[in-house]
Amino acid sequence: MQVRRASAADWPRIWPLWHRVVSTGETYMSAPDTDRETAAGVWLLPPPAAIFVAEDGSDVVGTALLKPAQPGLGDHVANAAFMVDPDRAGQGIGRRLAEHVLDAARALGYTAMQFNAVVSTNTAAIALWTSLGFDVLATIPGAFRHARLGPVAIHVMFREL
Ligand SMILES: CC(C)(COP(=O)(O)OP(=O)(O)OC[C@H]1O[C@@H](n2cnc3c(N)ncnc32)[C@H](O)[C@@H]1OP(=O)(O)O)[C@@H](O)C(=O)NCCC(=O)NCCS
Repeated sequence: MQVRRASAADWPRIWPLWHRVVSTGETYMSAPDTDRETAAGVWLLPPPAAIFVAEDGSDVVGTALLKPAQPGLGDHVANAAFMVDPDRAGQGIGRRLAEHVLDAARALGYTAMQFNAVVSTNTAAIALWTSLGFDVLATIPGAFRHARLGPVAIHVMFREL
């Protein structure tokens, strides 16, 4: 498996996995029925944002978006989002992708990384981010309408780079 920077040309292979993850309504704020064009507008952001894919042969098995958490005077803190093909979960792809993106963020000059909305029931993600040095700084009650569980809390997670 390799992780590399991606471009709009990769969208046809990113979109199926993006859709599978978001359509569960369990981990991302985007509406579960987000269409392909709207999703491209959310994920394929122009620089300074950077998009990544994890590839196994010709299969895209994961993707990540790295961008400034804030504009202007806050753009030294990064924000990132990660998705792994549900059929390939638990195989180390998310960890590999996250380590790559943390290194890329450092190389781009970011000094910290902030996750704005980690769903509190997302035990896999919270375990991964905690193992990579992120702390929960704040918890916002009921801020995510989970498709199965109803309103659940979200965490703001943070680490210096
Ligand atoms: C969260 C996600 C990126 C993790 O990717 P992954 O490839 O499945 O994770 P990995 O196999 O690399 O596992 C990394 C760590 O996550 C944790 N983890 C993974 N699956 C888990 C599970 N089912 N239960 C609990 N912890 C789990 C473990 O701590 C694991 O550590 P290890 O390397 O010591 O085993 C992936 O599940 C995903 O895309 N989920 C849907 C979208 C999402 O939630 N994105 C993050 C939003 S904050």
